Amino acid sequence: MIVSVFGMGHVGLITAVMLGRFFDVICVEIDEEKLIRLRGGEVIFYEPGFDQTFNKVRDKLEFTDDASYAINTSDISFIAVGTPTKTDHSQDHSYLASVLQSIGEALKEKDSRHLVVIKSTILPGTSENLVIPILEHSSGKKHGEGFSVLINPEFSREGEALHDLQTPDKIVIGAHDFSTMNDFEEILKMVYVKNNVPLIKTNYVNAEMIKYAQNAFLATKISFINTIANMCEKIPSADVEIISKALGLDHRISSHFLRAGLGYGGSCLPKDIEVLSNLGRKIGYEPTLLDVVALVNEHQPQRVVTTAEEHLGSLLDQVVSLLGLAFKPGTDDIREAPSLRVIESLLEKGAKVRVYDPKALSKVENIFGNLIEYYKSTEDCLDGSDCCILVTEWDEFRSLKPDIFLKMKTPFVIDGRRGISHISKVVEYHAVGLGKESQTLW
Ligand code: UGA
Repeated sequence: MIVSVFGMGHVGLITAVMLGRFFDVICVEIDEEKLIRLRGGEVIFYEPGFDQTFNKVRDKLEFTDDASYAINTSDISFIAVGTPTKTDHSQDHSYLASVLQSIGEALKEKDSRHLVVIKSTILPGTSENLVIPILEHSSGKKHGEGFSVLINPEFSREGEALHDLQTPDKIVIGAHDFSTMNDFEEILKMVYVKNNVPLIKTNYVNAEMIKYAQNAFLATKISFINTIANMCEKIPSADVEIISKALGLDHRISSHFLRAGLGYGGSCLPKDIEVLSNLGRKIGYEPTLLDVVALVNEHQPQRVVTTAEEHLGSLLDQVVSLLGLAFKPGTDDIREAPSLRVIESLLEKGAKVRVYDPKALSKVENIFGNLIEYYKSTEDCLDGSDCCILVTEWDEFRSLKPDIFLKMKTPFVIDGRRGISHISKVVEYHAVGLGKESQTLW
């Protein structure tokens, strides 16, 4: 069988590579530069272990910008184009609409039935009100006759995408008829090694909503634990890590997504909360909880800057070194990364900002240029600085020798991710969610 994947972003390329283990895959991308790089065998983002998997299946992948060729050559198309947010907080469907239009036009010529699988994150109602109408209009064919649409939301995480795709906790498929679901199930059986993956078969709106509800819940857990962490900082000897560990042992809560820090970033959680909340308002429900989750998250990066200011007094001309810039470890992605907010705030206060990250340095340089200084190692970044903030908990920071921090002018360290507590004895150590023994409660 030949399959096609539209959109070579993170989800699209990883999906294509996973499918490439079983099928020939036509990968459609309209960005010419991306296409050239992919054709040249370049992996266009950092994802642990991905380049080896990519190289193994490279011969099975064909990269093209020709939608008509992809549709007429394949039996199934996976759509993984981005659905960003507009300035009015609604979802931008322009990439999706444009891909669907070209798929529909190609379907005009096709004799056999085609399955269109939507992996892009779309709001409830989008399949019925946008996806199917565009395909019907541009192909001149009826849904269920010339083509079928199925929703199959993606739950993999950046940095752990290969693991998540191979062993998902669940698979959700939304369709309007059982025969489409059953056809797709046969394909899923071939792809997933773990045969007992729970399968949720439902209608379109539920499949669409599950994705949003899940990301909103994850974001809620993070803002919740950050709220507890922020309170712990004001309570002598309180430690959010111990509290979080105890909470996680209750099976009703679970230990995941209870790590306090500088808040959630990335291309999914912030955007999904925003558009879900906007949808709530549009359909006549004020989603207060979602708004508060987002608000807590918005303030969270600023807290480490306030801690630095409280300790150092004015930050004017103080040298502050940031360790980690990516929105999470295991990726070079800086979209909505808390590091960007921390840098902006430090610059506003007149600090001299130095940064180091194992993978995301050049992306941050594209934004801040010569406003900040870029270092190729932790050691150089810390040398002579007044304050260090751990922003992203890469493994290499967890294993840093405490002595490295003694190269700072004043070894004052704020651990924004609870990743370097092992240095707490040799430096003046402040951490997210850790109350100082010396302070008084009331
Ligand atoms: C998220 C979801 O976890 C995936 O299930 C989903 O498929 C994906 O969005 C998507 O919608 O495509 P991702 O954005 O890659 O995945 O990253 P996460 O692992 O969810 O982390 C998001 C942010 O939360 C990061 O900034 C991370 O540092 C932060 N986080 C995570 C915490 O601050 N504390 C935690 O305990 C966990």
